[in-house]
Amino acid sequence: MIQFLLNDQLVTLDQIDTNTTVLDYLRLHLHQIGTKEGCASGDCGACTVVLAELNPEHTKLNYRAINSCITLLGALHGKQLITVECLAQGERLHPVQQTMVDCHGSQCGFCTAGFVMSMFALWKEQPAPTHDQIDVALGGNLCRCTGYKPIIQATHQLGEYLPEDQFSANAAQTIQTLKTLQSTQTLALHTQNQQYFLPSTRAELAVLLTQNPEARLVAGSTDLALEMTQHLKQLPTLIGLNQVRDMQQLQVLDDKIIIGAARPYTDCIAVLQTHYPAFANMMKRLGSQQIRNQGTFGGNIGTASPIGDTLPVLLALNAEVELQKGERIRWVNLGEYFTGYRKTVLEQGEFITAVHIPRLQEHQVLVVDKVSKRFDDDISAVCAAWVLTLEKGWIKHARSGYGGMAATPARAINTEQALIGKVLDDSTIQMAQQALTQDFKPMSDVRASSEYRMIVAQNLLERMRVSLSNTY
Ligand code: FES
Ligand code: FES
Repeated sequence: MIQFLLNDQLVTLDQIDTNTTVLDYLRLHLHQIGTKEGCASGDCGACTVVLAELNPEHTKLNYRAINSCITLLGALHGKQLITVECLAQGERLHPVQQTMVDCHGSQCGFCTAGFVMSMFALWKEQPAPTHDQIDVALGGNLCRCTGYKPIIQATHQLGEYLPEDQFSANAAQTIQTLKTLQSTQTLALHTQNQQYFLPSTRAELAVLLTQNPEARLVAGSTDLALEMTQHLKQLPTLIGLNQVRDMQQLQVLDDKIIIGAARPYTDCIAVLQTHYPAFANMMKRLGSQQIRNQGTFGGNIGTASPIGDTLPVLLALNAEVELQKGERIRWVNLGEYFTGYRKTVLEQGEFITAVHIPRLQEHQVLVVDKVSKRFDDDISAVCAAWVLTLEKGWIKHARSGYGGMAATPARAINTEQALIGKVLDDSTIQMAQQALTQDFKPMSDVRASSEYRMIVAQNLLERMRVSLSNTY
């Protein structure tokens, strides 16, 4: 069984279709229809709800907007699910609703509940946000009729309200309740034909996966849930990772940074900003705030998509993944991890526990570039990452990672060789651009043609030269 707070009510679930999304649970089971369904694929934000979660020290609540359409019920255990229905107090609108009214931020209203919930999460975390913070927080919400200006204005206007509401008034009680719900053993939801396990440790996960080798692992479910909502598949055995305590680490060591496979992106961004600013800047464009609140490095690596946004960067940084099967642990360099389109060296019963990312050394720079049709909340057509070791203008070493250029994320080995030992100037870049055609024969798909991808990837080499022109 799992337990969570729905607004201020404690809910216990035991026997329920384990493939149920939070959105369907709200709308179809509880008939709470304030939360809307637009795309059912994590793209539009109409279904946004907020999860209040205990911070690691259990001293405060973190408020996070998520897409309920791609979140499975198992993700709710030990958290408070806040929906648009509970914002107003009687006739009195919540500040996030009142400013939307005052600024005329709604027309047809279909997107409004989702915007209001994203604004609510932002206001709880940043009562007086900057314009950039508003852009980041609302980047995953689409509106077809109002135009974004009044909505952004409404979000700015929230700064005029004291950051106090019924949730801050009840925070101590909520923290106390959520503390009592933290699991110390495997939990489960089930029906006669389905099971959804929630182990609390790696050891429990290893045993469960040995006993259920056909099980699918659920990290943030931002990709997996699409199999249910878009392809209408039924997944009978699921193992959720969000309760696994020893896959949540975020450690900065002298030589590397270790990120647990189940740690959401959002938690990692401050560390990335300090140690790899170019990586952190790209992460702001990985999906939306809602996706980053759910998605994990482990999920991105496990999915092994050729357009997974973190993968080119991790390749360029020479990252290793830590894998566990039963009690066996092994480390695999990411360059040897991908074996084909969405195929990897992972054996049956084996799972990713963490990614180890080497720290940048003196004279090393990281450059990351992502090109997609839309700036926010979109999938890469091409993603390129380079780690260059530059000394007095000379490239002593180069290591790359590319997404969208092949069946797997991949290094551009010929291009690396074209750069090493050269000065980073126009003629070097022209040679590197030529070498890139030996490294990749990209495919054409809905996002970009093969020719476009190659031209863009070549142009990104030139952009890298320009961006580094003040570095050497
Ligand atoms: Fe569009 Fe959920 S319905 S993101
Ligand atoms: Fe109509 Fe936003 S008000 S979609």
